[in-house]
Amino acid sequence: GWQYSLRPRRLMEYIGQDQVKHNLTIFIQAALARKEALDHVLLYGPPGLGKTTMAGIIANELGVNFRITSGPAIERPGDLAALLTNLTEKDVLFIDEIHRLSRSVEEILYSAMEDYALDIIIGKGPSARSIRLDLPRFTLIGATTRAGALAPPLRDRFGVMCRLEFYETAHLVCIVKRAAEILNIPIEERGAQEIARRSRGTPRVANRLLKRVRDYAQVAGDGIITDRIADQALALLEVDQCGLDKTDRSMLVTIIQKFDGGPVGLETLAAAISEETDTIEDVYEPFLLQLGFLNRTPRGRVATRAAYEHLKIPYKTAEQDKD
Ligand code: ADE
Repeated sequence: GWQYSLRPRRLMEYIGQDQVKHNLTIFIQAALARKEALDHVLLYGPPGLGKTTMAGIIANELGVNFRITSGPAIERPGDLAALLTNLTEKDVLFIDEIHRLSRSVEEILYSAMEDYALDIIIGKGPSARSIRLDLPRFTLIGATTRAGALAPPLRDRFGVMCRLEFYETAHLVCIVKRAAEILNIPIEERGAQEIARRSRGTPRVANRLLKRVRDYAQVAGDGIITDRIADQALALLEVDQCGLDKTDRSMLVTIIQKFDGGPVGLETLAAAISEETDTIEDVYEPFLLQLGFLNRTPRGRVATRAAYEHLKIPYKTAEQDKD
């Protein structure tokens, strides 16, 4: 499908994240030269920045098989054992949302990562015994939105840690133009800039907006994405000039109007806007923090002066508050 064809397959094709690419290039080259498996890699950062894509590229550059699973999909230790015993030498096993592994699965992962061995308990009660299975040398690539949510013993077993950052607009412009070319969408430079600028620093968002703007260009215009068409389409999608969507704005407006600008606790805020606390922390907050519209304090979330200004709400200072 398009997802597959839009995903770059080589490090050379991957736009942005220059520091991460540079480091990985060296580690991959060195592992290849030694004919060894690459050390385990942890990719972390907000959703949509290309962690899965990067993992696939690493496997491709290493010339090994790429096996994909996710934390919640591995329910029992036996599920992980089945995956690990089916790997061949130097393969990449990718575990998305690795912070959501269950305790029992996580515990057998430690020896698999460190000693390439699985300790499995067979049977129950007095006749239970432990057997040790040898595994091929493999590379685990874990992805998570929060490295801080990993248990330290798991985190410590990754030899390579890469943090993916929000993309600068110039890189997103290249990503939008590349996707438009692959999908055969006519787009002007300034149309690509408009979409890139309003994509929350996130390629997944940019590619989704590109497709919605194309729909609008087809129906309301002549099919070509200009800056004017992009602006009209994004306004209809309720994506504002900074790239904030309805939920982003609802979060800030709620902090300002219901909680006097904050601080407000995460749970309270989540209940007020009917979102999951995890979604707020993983999806919405990182970008609002990056824009400087939100602060996290020990007592809760606070809307900044910049947020008031962006939303055109008069900023209430402490002085005025006393009156
Ligand atoms: N498509 C989505 N993310 C990309 C990236 N970082 N480089 C190239 N194409 C992409």
